[in-house]
Amino acid sequence: MVANRLPVDLDRSTDGTQRWTQSPGGLVSALEPFLRSRKGAWVGWPGIPDVEVDEFTDDGLILHPVTLSADEVRDYYEGFSNATLWPLYHDVVERPVFDRGWWESYVRVNQRFAEASAAVAGEGATVWVQDYQLQLVPSMLRELRPDLRIGFFLHIPFPPVELFMQLPWRAEIVRGLIGADLVGFHRPGGAQNFLWLARQLIGLEPSRGAVGVRSRPGMVQVGDRTVRVGAFPISIDAAGLDNLARTKEVAERTAQLRTDVGNPRTILLGVDRLDYTKGIDLRLQALHELLQEGRVHPEDVTFIQLATPSRERVEHYQRMRSDIEQMVGRINGEFGRVGHPVVHYLHQSVNRKELASFFSAADVMVVTPLRDGMNLVCKEYVACRHDLGGALVLSEFAGAAAELSSAFLVNPHDLDGVKNALEAAITLDPAEGRRRMRALRRQVLTHDVDRWARSFLEALGAEPSS
Ligand code: ADP
Ligand code: F6P
Repeated sequence: MVANRLPVDLDRSTDGTQRWTQSPGGLVSALEPFLRSRKGAWVGWPGIPDVEVDEFTDDGLILHPVTLSADEVRDYYEGFSNATLWPLYHDVVERPVFDRGWWESYVRVNQRFAEASAAVAGEGATVWVQDYQLQLVPSMLRELRPDLRIGFFLHIPFPPVELFMQLPWRAEIVRGLIGADLVGFHRPGGAQNFLWLARQLIGLEPSRGAVGVRSRPGMVQVGDRTVRVGAFPISIDAAGLDNLARTKEVAERTAQLRTDVGNPRTILLGVDRLDYTKGIDLRLQALHELLQEGRVHPEDVTFIQLATPSRERVEHYQRMRSDIEQMVGRINGEFGRVGHPVVHYLHQSVNRKELASFFSAADVMVVTPLRDGMNLVCKEYVACRHDLGGALVLSEFAGAAAELSSAFLVNPHDLDGVKNALEAAITLDPAEGRRRMRALRRQVLTHDVDRWARSFLEALGAEPSS
């Protein structure tokens, strides 16, 4: 496995002590349990600049750290990856910055990842490259090691071609990806967009049929290689979370959480990396208006927002954080009482058990991204609701919406629609709620991350078909 981050981050405190903690984000949540069960190797960055760490083994997983300098963290990671590609691929929700120096850094770091992977992989091994930070690695690695079988998976949306065409280095990115034997996206639309670009930008002749979900991949002939391009919606370790949510410890902690927030009639919950694509601001705005209009009473509801700190030195993120924190203050200022804020906002990460307890305690899960490749949080919520309780409000612009049609689906740009959906979820008839949750669980529990990984590896030809 080759990903920008290792599954663990090196955390250094001011007194010089250091420890490894779980890395943030959906990629690690999804891939770590899968790869651990297979005893694979993982090439990635340890999360802080200028550290040289030797290869080590963590609970059966061999980790190969790649060093990034402080300048590379600024230009490759915060710059090109997260201030150019991230907004460009998420529908230009913020304006992408096109900086030639950042691009050069992106090329250099991708080359380093390719070299590290070439040094680690055994003869004829399968190497699976992950996500938008490493889109040049497939071709660079093929150049170094033509014996390898190379897969690539994009964890974020692949944009409409009109937006992708803004990128000054668009042809280089397509050439980078085409070095893989299989290029995977969450949705058929992403695969279809990529096939169009392969024709327009580098003159290849892709197949023309519609790409299916885990079926009918597109094909592109590149010299004597056939590259497949397909759709593989990612998922979670559903059984693992389901089991965790059924434990006595989680049940006790769930009851404690409800008591801690004053046993309101309804707990609403948001769980996200603090990212401007997640629509945290607009769910707060919807709540604010519902309170102002008296459609929701402050004594009856508590909204809990857990927000993992993310990309804190990128300007877009700094602005968004201060906007969100102002809104939280405003709602609590207008509608809270001493000891009873309406919104509990935690700018923190919590562990898996705690997270399962929050999910179990939440009557309404609010997931409102403006654009999200998949969104794992909504699937995690469903996996934790063995009691068939709770309701899910989900943005149509999350990849997961295509699978979770029994949620309250909303257009996050339509604030009145979001308010109506929140109100409907808060006042949901319990029998109707159970019917919806049963349907959601059927989907999530039968389409877990293991199935996702197997379907990708089978299409890559790295695993026999089941
Ligand atoms: P992204 O990959 O963009 O961060 P996803 O929804 O796909 O979004 O994945 C986010 C992952 O991070 C999920 O596994 C979720 O449980 C986890 N997560 C998000 N916020 C928190 C938090 N505050 N504490 C712990 N885990 C969190
Ligand atoms: O796919 C979403 C993603 O960008 C992953 O690539 C990444 O691991 C995660 O979100 C967290 O972001 P970051 O690594 O920038 O903290």
